[in-house]
Amino acid sequence: TFVVMEECIQCKHTDCVSVCPVDCFYEGPNFLVIDPDECIDCALCEPECPVDAIRSEDEVPSDQIEFVNLNAVLAKHPNWTQITQQKPALADHEKWTKVAGKLAQLDR
Ligand code: SF4
Ligand code: F3S
Repeated sequence: TFVVMEECIQCKHTDCVSVCPVDCFYEGPNFLVIDPDECIDCALCEPECPVDAIRSEDEVPSDQIEFVNLNAVLAKHPNWTQITQQKPALADHEKWTKVAGKLAQLDR
């Protein structure tokens, strides 16, 4: 499966969602995740993200390994909904792009 990592938090560019052939992206207030039960490992989304937030599960850096489980959990969150069409990034995305440790900012 592919995984959305920390770089997406507070940015949410959404270029990724429009290329997914199985529509397996789910959206929360300031982050997106991939449902590992639906992802077919096509890799189309990875190069679409302007902030490099998407990696194959086996290429997620060790300091972001918790995002593997976080994608699986949040994809089933009752308030998170499927997203299939691109929309504008979050207003403050430029300010947050280079900030590290954004997991504390994640809204569920
Ligand atoms: Fe969708 Fe393919 Fe990305 Fe999986 S790897 S989330 S199937 S675009
Ligand atoms: Fe997030 Fe990148 Fe998609 S910032 S919404 S993973 S294009």
